[in-house]
Amino acid sequence: MKKILAMLLAVMMMVVAAGCGGGGDKASSGSGAASSGGKKITMGFSQIGAESEWRTANTESVKKAAEEAGIELQFSDAQQKQENQIKAIRSFIAQGVDIIAFVPIVETGWDTVLKEAKDAKIPVIVVDRDVKLADDSLYVAKIGTDSLTEGKNVFKWIDEYMTKENKKPRGGTDQFQVVVLEGTVGSSVANGRQKGFKDEMAASPNAAKYNILASQTGEFTRQKGQEVMESFLKSDRDKIDILFAHNDDMALGAIQAIEAAGLKPGKDITIISIDGVKGIFQAMIEGKANCTVECNPLQGPVLMETAKKILNGEKVEKMVYVPEGVFPADVAEKTLPERKY
Ligand code: AHR
Repeated sequence: MKKILAMLLAVMMMVVAAGCGGGGDKASSGSGAASSGGKKITMGFSQIGAESEWRTANTESVKKAAEEAGIELQFSDAQQKQENQIKAIRSFIAQGVDIIAFVPIVETGWDTVLKEAKDAKIPVIVVDRDVKLADDSLYVAKIGTDSLTEGKNVFKWIDEYMTKENKKPRGGTDQFQVVVLEGTVGSSVANGRQKGFKDEMAASPNAAKYNILASQTGEFTRQKGQEVMESFLKSDRDKIDILFAHNDDMALGAIQAIEAAGLKPGKDITIISIDGVKGIFQAMIEGKANCTVECNPLQGPVLMETAKKILNGEKVEKMVYVPEGVFPADVAEKTLPERKY
């Protein structure tokens, strides 16, 4: 009888130990399914859409990382509308998800809905782009890229390149004429990249060599990038020396417009853009683009890891930047086989 009782006690202790695995009271983060309060963690994720090659890679990274982490992902595509994102976040709150993550299409207008999430005690992670809030405690962490530095790196590279290549302005003036294809109006990335570029230019001893001739949104899409570049070329075909596109997709659209106008992209017009997608590496290998400043979309793994830590009651960094590089055309051929997106 004593033996049977001892065995029963041992079995009960094993069951209790298994139930407490992971140490925290809200989530466990072992190699299998992540759990919150004994059930699988559910994350509501609001993505902005599928405007670019970069965005597709970002979505794939988040979906794959959720699967690998054993996190149930409620994925919502906002089709480029902030109102759809707000609706999605409200629906995540109503469903009682464990954690909410979202890519804010624009910087402002999130205070009310994030306050609703906080009142419902659902932690929020901001992904990729930034938000401007009156109260930063409305989100727990932000995972993303540094758009200000990206913009600064664009100007630095241009200035070094134009000097090294001994380039001369095409229009016969003493200034290089720059056109800019901007990203989504009101987005932190468009604002940051533009500001970083202009600040770096203003601080440069070579500032007087450059003039921003035109700057307009191409909404981060290939088609709009092409259309806006066509209109730039219509008015200033023989003056434009440099194109800075806030993303690679717009640069790829612009390349088509430049060729259609009878000019050589990458030669007559120096082209630099941001992202580092395979398409721009291919264009660089073909001599049609000159440089890409990386913006890393592979944010899924760090997002899932951060979500587990938050639900486990662990302290996390408020701001986590993902690593990024600068890739000029002369390294494109060697680098393309290593590119993951
Ligand atoms: O927020 C990141 C930007 O959004 C990428 O540069 C762009 O390609 C995307 O659509």
